[in-house]
Amino acid sequence: MGVVVIFLALLVFVFSTFWVANISSDYRMVTSMTPQALKSNISHSAHPPPKPQPKPIALTCGNQTTAPICQRQVSASAVPSRPPTMPRSSASCPDYFRWIYEDLRPWETTGITREMVGSARKFATFRLVVLDGRVYVEHYGGGFQTRDVFTLWGLLQLANRYPGRIPNLELMFNCNDTPSIKSADHRSSPPPPLFRYCKDDKTLDIVFPDWSFWGWAEVNIKPWRTLSKELEEGNRIVKWRDREPYAYWKGNPWVSDGRSDLMRCNVSKHHDWNARLYALNWDSEKNQGYKNSNLASQCKYRYKIFVEGRAWSVSNKYMLACDSPALFVRTHFHDFFSRGLMPGLHYWPIREDDKCSSIKFAVDWGNKHQEEAEAMGRVGSRHMKEEVKMEYVYDYMLHLLIQYGKLLRYKPTVPEKATEFCLESVACPATGIVKKLLMESMEKWTEEAEPCRIPPPFNPEELQEIMERKANVLKQVESWEGKKG
Ligand SMILES: *[C@@H]1O[C@H](CO)[C@@H](O)[C@H](O)[C@H]1NC(C)=O
Ligand SMILES: *[C@@H]1O[C@H](CO)[C@@H](O)[C@H](O)[C@H]1NC(C)=O
Ligand SMILES: *[C@@H]1O[C@H](CO)[C@@H](O)[C@H](O)[C@H]1NC(C)=O
Ligand SMILES: *[C@@H]1O[C@H](CO)[C@@H](O)[C@H](O)[C@H]1NC(C)=O
Repeated sequence: MGVVVIFLALLVFVFSTFWVANISSDYRMVTSMTPQALKSNISHSAHPPPKPQPKPIALTCGNQTTAPICQRQVSASAVPSRPPTMPRSSASCPDYFRWIYEDLRPWETTGITREMVGSARKFATFRLVVLDGRVYVEHYGGGFQTRDVFTLWGLLQLANRYPGRIPNLELMFNCNDTPSIKSADHRSSPPPPLFRYCKDDKTLDIVFPDWSFWGWAEVNIKPWRTLSKELEEGNRIVKWRDREPYAYWKGNPWVSDGRSDLMRCNVSKHHDWNARLYALNWDSEKNQGYKNSNLASQCKYRYKIFVEGRAWSVSNKYMLACDSPALFVRTHFHDFFSRGLMPGLHYWPIREDDKCSSIKFAVDWGNKHQEEAEAMGRVGSRHMKEEVKMEYVYDYMLHLLIQYGKLLRYKPTVPEKATEFCLESVACPATGIVKKLLMESMEKWTEEAEPCRIPPPFNPEELQEIMERKANVLKQVESWEGKKG
């Protein structure tokens, strides 16, 4: 009897830890293990390390006819600022985490007061309050599509993945594209703290991962965890050297001047700028079951063009994950991870004022220097796979919220008009593709290990050096282009 219990306990332990670490291969490994193999492991390891076990996260929708409510008790182990249960992993977070300090620098000395948060209210799509591990939301409207649903879903996954780790906090969130807090308007006093998906050099919005990491229902884009795996598999279909030797872009050209300008570079009877561009009409795509927009089958060209939309574009991650060098038309907006990208290393810079000849130059250069071009494609893809994997997306959110929480100068309370949010209240009433994506992006296990360690802030010299490095690469490429033309 005792042996059976130990056996079962070990099975659960092995199964659940590996499940988190490497779903496909280790799952296969564990399920193919015979009891003999497991038993022999028992005797080999008399003192298994006392690791806390990940706990399964369950969704129980129950009776669909009654409104689902958030009745789940927050367990005792999930009280805020729970001490670490496992030794700190020695792994340092990727370098782009250091921008968290830069985003929060405007409040470094003043802290964040209730009044400051209140002053961000007029920009916000919703207000989020986390109190003793529970999540409350007050909606103000104005959100576009289901961005707010998937953003809040992401926050709930974070709360479930790291129970009790999100500090008590209150924040305002805007779900639209263009940053709103202009630095020029806030020279003498701290700006309203406002979370959103991107910023530029003239704004002070706080950057947070966008909804598409959990899914984009309106255009059938799957959660990043699934999609990045599919892209990786898609990359194996056509080897880089066998891909079409052109620069490819497919998307909605009508959202920005930059994009419509890019369309001039399409191949025609008179010109071949080495660009192959395709306009995507999402309405007709939808009617045709999205068969022309499957991202995983788009890695058939040697080069992928990235051009911003209204502000940043969620597509940067898909462009970079193709194993083909991404040609970035000069960008103005950053999302949380794109500040860690370096031109010449992760992507090739394209001029904004002369896109067509700049693209032609990049493609000719790459086709002549295939080894370098292939390597750049691989570096970009590896960066997305290893440094922007979902584990790090969650760690980034957690570290940002912890740092933000440290700045709060008051204890938040539940706003009168707020409703509690939990898995059940979001997922149970959902239907169709929204439901499908929510289920697919749901975290199934708690993470008991510590998040990665956040590196220290940049010092001014380091920041300066990064800016200079970027500027030098752009200058270098422009001078090559000049010589050519
Ligand atoms: C998962 O397993 C596969 C096959 O054994 C291996 O190639 C891959 O590196 C593993 N991934 C991680 C994150 O450990
Ligand atoms: C079981 O033991 C074998 C041989 O000692 C080892 O190679 C394997 O990694 C162990 N598996 C687990 C799940 O500990
Ligand atoms: C669900 O709730 C309704 C209304 O309270 C009740 O009539 C029905 O029997 C319930 N169904 C189940 C499966 O509990
Ligand atoms: C670009 O040219 C190709 C080939 O002629 C054509 O199929 C495609 O529709 C064009 N793209 C745009 C956006 O006009």
